[in-house]
Amino acid sequence: MEFWKNRWKNNQTGWHREEYNEMLVKHWPSLNIGANCNVLVPLCGKSLDMRWLAEQGHSVLGLELVEEAVHAFFQEQKLDSKQMNLISHVQHSSPPYTILHGDVFTVKSEMVQADAWYDRAAMIALPVSKRQEYVEQLRKLTSNGACGLLITFAYPQQQMEGPPFALHDADVIRLFANGFKVEHLETVQLEDEKDRGLSDVYSSVFKIQRLE
Ligand SMILES: C[S@@+](CC[C@H](N)C(=O)[O-])C[C@H]1O[C@@H](n2cnc3c(N)ncnc32)[C@H](O)[C@@H]1O
Repeated sequence: MEFWKNRWKNNQTGWHREEYNEMLVKHWPSLNIGANCNVLVPLCGKSLDMRWLAEQGHSVLGLELVEEAVHAFFQEQKLDSKQMNLISHVQHSSPPYTILHGDVFTVKSEMVQADAWYDRAAMIALPVSKRQEYVEQLRKLTSNGACGLLITFAYPQQQMEGPPFALHDADVIRLFANGFKVEHLETVQLEDEKDRGLSDVYSSVFKIQRLE
């Protein structure tokens, strides 16, 4: 928790991109999500991808631990947001965006029921020991049949301590083995990140549907 708060406080947000994620733009249409569906974006940061999703006609529901990130998103999008205290979270909203400020693991199904979800740099930000619990949160917070787009990042884990933690294709298959249909859409090899000592880096994209 302190780790992420410090990253935002010290402006160490190297994961943030000033453009839409190209895998999102390329693959989201294949999920066939209706325009007025609501899309869950766990560990959303101040991602511009939320704006892209909103431009497709979706309502966007972000979950974010650090208040600075939530403020930065609305400020950079030049939106005034209304705040409401919930028991475990603070809800910030400015339609079509709602961001719940708090821990992804304490969101209850009564608070969120999404039709679809988008994960870029979310699961890979969590320690490996929390991954299955994260999958259970995705199951709980989405409706039956909900589809998600997952973008991974993988490298030989011994090359670096995370985050980001390496998420290999086999991990995805194993983590979503029960009650989900997992479809691999694409894998791209990424440039070696020599400054971080990383080689054999790749990113995969999966379409994942909740079956029950
Ligand atoms: C690597 S960043 C990715 C942000 C965003 N998905 C993007 O692509 O720009 C991970 C984000 O998750 C947030 N985070 C970390 N742990 C969290 C938790 N338990 N609940 C909610 N958000 C969390 C961090 O504050 C950070 O903004």
